[in-house]
Amino acid sequence: MPPVPVVERKNIDLGPLKAANVPIFFIVGGPGSGKGTQCEKIVAKYGLTHLSSGDLLRAEVKSGSPRGTQLTKIMEAGELVPLEVVLDLIKEAMLEAIKKGSKGFLIDGYPREVKQGEQFEAEIQPSKLVVYFDVSEETLVKRLLHRAKTSGRADDNMETIKKRLHTFNNATAPVVLHYEKKGKLARIKAEGSVDEIFAVVTSHLDKAVAGK
Ligand code: AP5
Repeated sequence: MPPVPVVERKNIDLGPLKAANVPIFFIVGGPGSGKGTQCEKIVAKYGLTHLSSGDLLRAEVKSGSPRGTQLTKIMEAGELVPLEVVLDLIKEAMLEAIKKGSKGFLIDGYPREVKQGEQFEAEIQPSKLVVYFDVSEETLVKRLLHRAKTSGRADDNMETIKKRLHTFNNATAPVVLHYEKKGKLARIKAEGSVDEIFAVVTSHLDKAVAGK
């Protein structure tokens, strides 16, 4: 893996975002655990803004910027891109959404490591709840290989899927324990049908939204 260049932090004015003080939900889970699928349904029911760190990164890659080229290599290796890159992309997208009147955020695929969560919460605001989709590796692989037939995603192949699982087990599993200890985790068994899982999701979100 070539060395990642030093990342220049952008000077982002977070004033409007902090002033809005809308609820923020983190959505975590292994690759293919259904984060994107469930987020779509959550958006339809609760009107929250869905920001996927993976989508934001893929958009940066697509833009053809030099940074995008670096990101491609990291993502194809199933590794994590530098924390600052993701956080700045998320901040910019959140500010854009706040300008348009966002009522709250689903931050999908974030935090991927404990430090990401700590930095986000220190620089922006604490999350209200962390939703974790708990799915066996066997199911994850099956779903991703099925999706690979049509997704066109450079990381939907057996070799990269194995690396993504390795990264999840090493870097992201501690995130789950971190928020569980804080009493802020909704652990959801996510092997049933999309609608069955969504019913459990809503039971957690209804409580969290009502307790605003
Ligand atoms: P990212 O885009 O976040 O990928 P991921 O975590 O691997 O997750 P996926 O998007 O593949 O799956 P998903 O959980 O959203 O599941 P989906 O709903 O699509 O990240 C890609 C890369 O970007 C990372 O590897 C990393 O390099 C980088 N990156 C991203 N965030 C980062 C961060 N914060 N820091 C650093 N680097 C970062 O469902 C999958 C499939 O299953 C679909 O076909 C779906 O139809 C199907 N499905 C869903 N639910 C069900 C169900 N209940 N039953 C049957 N099938 C189902």
